[in-house]
Amino acid sequence: MKLNQTPRVDATRILGFGSYRPERVVTNDDLSAIMDTNDEWIRTRVGIVERRFADKDQTVPDLAVIAGNRALADAGLKPSDIDTVIVATCTMPCGIPNAAAQVSSRIGIENKGAFDLNAACAGFCYSIGTASDLVRAGTARHVLVIGAEKLTDSVDPYDRANAIIFADGSAAAVIGPAEEPGIGPVVWGSAGELVDLIYMREDRYLFQEGQSVFRWATTAIAPIGLQAIEAAGITPADIDVLVPHQANLRIVEAIAKKLRAKGARQDMVVAEDIVTSGNTSSASIPLAIDRMRADGKIRSGDTMLLVGFGAGLSYAGQVVICP
Ligand code: COA
Repeated sequence: MKLNQTPRVDATRILGFGSYRPERVVTNDDLSAIMDTNDEWIRTRVGIVERRFADKDQTVPDLAVIAGNRALADAGLKPSDIDTVIVATCTMPCGIPNAAAQVSSRIGIENKGAFDLNAACAGFCYSIGTASDLVRAGTARHVLVIGAEKLTDSVDPYDRANAIIFADGSAAAVIGPAEEPGIGPVVWGSAGELVDLIYMREDRYLFQEGQSVFRWATTAIAPIGLQAIEAAGITPADIDVLVPHQANLRIVEAIAKKLRAKGARQDMVVAEDIVTSGNTSSASIPLAIDRMRADGKIRSGDTMLLVGFGAGLSYAGQVVICP
């Protein structure tokens, strides 16, 4: 018996972005008032000046809905145009219920596919790769991908090693069919043997071996970016914008330096959203992009290298064209 299969689509692209930063700004001085740290140490070691914390009663789906609606508006689409919702998150309080089904319903995307994707801070790039393949395979026409995290619920507020780094936020992208390819092949992977470097303790607070993670990120991630560039059939000199996961400004700078040593341009724009947003895990890459678009630092048509990495350990990267 011969079964029908969905007709394939040749090319996909990102059609729009949207983001949400919680209102509450928390400065380094605010944190020094409640723990043994200081502005100078945080700026020098991590590069963060301030970050946003969600309200106590704001949930991951609350954050996701706002960003999702904004991305839809930016793409010029209606909720009824979306047929799959992926929420990239690692901070839902428990595995059931997932975020995506409620987010989908609250946005008005009714009776459509909806699932969470947890690849920690690599979640957004994993989700863009998955969404692009769903559209190319004909399974979905338009996919809404939302990175949404409330890390303040997962970090001991008095643990100076982590409380200064992690923050809250959400940002989204709409993926759909295109005339020309606008999303390169995803290069993804995992290093599960390093699982003990970042995990949730039994008290559900985050633990990480900061120095080991730092060494891994500054050595393993630039080569993933180079593989994504090669997979897209371009060269490092073609990259206009580098958007690494915003984990630590020193990690961002190290990745940029390694890519420039391999031919990336000196005038390549490098996302530094960590300075005012902190580490928002799977929301950090689209938050950075949306801010740079709003500030006029990047333009429609720019070639961007995205690369996410984090707990798992997991990593993923791809080249995309800015909508
Ligand atoms: N304020 C002041 N001092 C602090 C501090 C803080 N918030 N946190 C640690 N310190 C102190 C330590 O106690 C230590 O003091 P000592 O030398 O007297 O023992 C000193 O600063 C150095 O600590 P260390 O842990 O070696 O700092 P570091 O330079 O490695 O920076 C991180 C710590 C976490 C910022 C850094 O390792 C990092 O960013 N790692 C990557 C983490 C990451 O990106 N994770 C997410 C991946 S998604």
